[in-house]
Formats: sequence, structure tokens, C-alpha cells
Amino acid sequence: MRERLESLKQEALRELAGVSSQQELSELRIKYLGKKGPLTEILRGMGALSAEERPVIGQVANDVRAAIEAVIEEKQAAFTKAETEQRLQAETIDVTLPGRPLPVGAVHPLNKVIQEIEDVFIGMGFTVEEGPEVETDYYNFEALNLPKDHPARDMQDSFYITDEILMRTQTSPMQPRMMERLKGAVPVKFISPGKVYRRDDDDATHSHQFTQIEGLVIDKGIRMSDLKGTLLQFVRELFGQRTQIRLRPSFFPFTEPSVEVDVSCFMCGGSGCRLCKHTGWIEILGAGMVHPRVLEMSGYDPVQVSGFAFGMGPERIAMLKYGIDDIRNFYNNDLRFLRQFAHL
Ligand code: PHE
Repeated sequence: MRERLESLKQEALRELAGVSSQQELSELRIKYLGKKGPLTEILRGMGALSAEERPVIGQVANDVRAAIEAVIEEKQAAFTKAETEQRLQAETIDVTLPGRPLPVGAVHPLNKVIQEIEDVFIGMGFTVEEGPEVETDYYNFEALNLPKDHPARDMQDSFYITDEILMRTQTSPMQPRMMERLKGAVPVKFISPGKVYRRDDDDATHSHQFTQIEGLVIDKGIRMSDLKGTLLQFVRELFGQRTQIRLRPSFFPFTEPSVEVDVSCFMCGGSGCRLCKHTGWIEILGAGMVHPRVLEMSGYDPVQVSGFAFGMGPERIAMLKYGIDDIRNFYNNDLRFLRQFAHL
């Protein structure tokens, strides 16, 4: 029996020495140590041995089993290690490869100018209010002293949704909207940026969709000098402290008197250059004292209070500020154009 065990051990070790896969290893484990294996069989036959032989042979059998188990474990460990190494090899990341670029967005130049303008007015105590782009005829025209047959409507043809609803042609409808909301209370003091729409043929200086910033101040005793002082402060913060303004008479149905506001040319300082067409002045906005009828229609008493309003086009200001020569650049989404302003 001792010889049988010994040769069993030799045979097992020889076979184990040649295993090349985990699969083979587990097959050999079953073959030699399994319930139906030779070792179990030998141990089962121990009953036939004498009482003296039994522990001796038992000891030998255990040693054989231990020896085979030890080799199997050793092999198993080697396989596991090899497998881990192989995985590590296969999953190696080459950290020296160049990464994929992650493009970083930037604020659109037009929005930047709008934010800059907002900052200046917020600094002077204005709030920023936004209104609807789809507007009623009433707020867009009638409440601004432009009755249905008024000829000034021709200058602002729009996209109509129904006879009474249109894409707003200006941000001025925010004047009656805010007055109604505040129900006669003063001060009224806000700016309102947003998109406006007009039936227009697009070219370098015209777009059927563009932006405006409206401003309205109403309080007791508001005078034209308040309008002038506010706008002077504004243009100085935007274009530089030496900037001057000039008011020229104009017409808007909702302001009386009405003015066009020019700034002294920030390129030449007023001496005349290509940008200001050699006049020294650049027109940047329309403004005026709020028409008494406009105040009245929205619930304010023109005897008690007065106000001024102004409206400007951020596109025009951005074009002047950055030397942009075509308004369509703002809407074409050409990254070559937009990237030039990403750092501002
Ligand atoms: N809404 C006018 C326009 O679009 C501009 C303006 C606003 C003029 C406020 C005076 C006062 O032309």
C-alpha cells in the first residue's frame, strides 16, 4: 500500500508539472483528490489493515495528499499571478498620449456688451426687467401713443401672428408694462434688454432680428437734465471718462421732446476720422421725456410726475466698440468670428 501511495504521488506530481492551464489544473485536482479518486479509494481500503499498520499508512496517505495539494496551490497561485499580470499589460494606459481637446465656450460678444451696459445701469440704481418677445398691438404701439392709423407705424413693420399679436418691434412696450405693474408708484427706474423684430431686408447694418435696451425713469420732478446726466455718466463708463454727448432734436411718438444722442468719437476724440465719418460724433441712441399721454394711459398723472426714456441697440454699440463691420456676424455663429472676443 505504501508503494501504491508513493507511485500515486509521483504520478500526480509528474502530471501536475506539465499543466498549462487552470482548466487542466482543476481536472487534475478532481482526478487525484476527488471523491472518486485513487487516494479516496486507498483510504477506504484501510479497514483491511492491521491496527499497527493503519496509523502508519494513514500518515503516509495524509502526507501524499498534502504534497499534491501543496503543488496544486502553488500552480494555482502562479496562474492567478500570470493572469493578473496579463490583465495589467492589456489594460495599460499610455499617459503620455496627447489628450482629447475639450473646447471651452465663451460669452457671445453681443451678450458681453449687454452685460457691460447692465452693470453700468445697475450701478446707478436701475433694475433689469425682461419682457415678452411676442407682444400685443396695444403694448407695442397703442400704449406708446401710436394709434392704429399712425404713420410712424410704417417705420416698424413686423411679423404679425394675428391682427392684435406681433413680434415686438422695440423694447419700448416694457414702458407701459412696467408702469401698469407698479400701479402709479414711483420711482420707476429700470432697463430692459431683449430681442426685437422688424420686417427688414438683411444687409451689413440691418437685421430682421436684433436687440435693444430700453430705459425708463419716472419720479416727481424728473427733468431733461436728469436724462442728460444719466446718459453722460453711462457713455463715460462705457467709452471712457473724456467722452462727451450731444443731443439733437428728433421724433418718437412716445417722447416729447425727443432727441437722438451722439457721443464724441472715441476713436479720434472728436477731431474727425473714418469711424465718425469726419464729424467727430457718433449716434448711439434715441431718447426723450416721456409723453404725458403715455404716462396717463398707464395710470400715471403727468401733473404729478414726469420721466425720461431711452432706447439703444447693443449691436451698434458692439460694432463701434470692436470695429465690427457687418451686423450679420453676430448671428452667423461662425466660430472664427466669435473666438476673437472669447478673451474679452
Ligand atoms: N423704441 C425706439 C426705437 O426703437 C427708441 C426709443 C426708446 C426712443 C425710448 C425714445 C425712447 O426706435
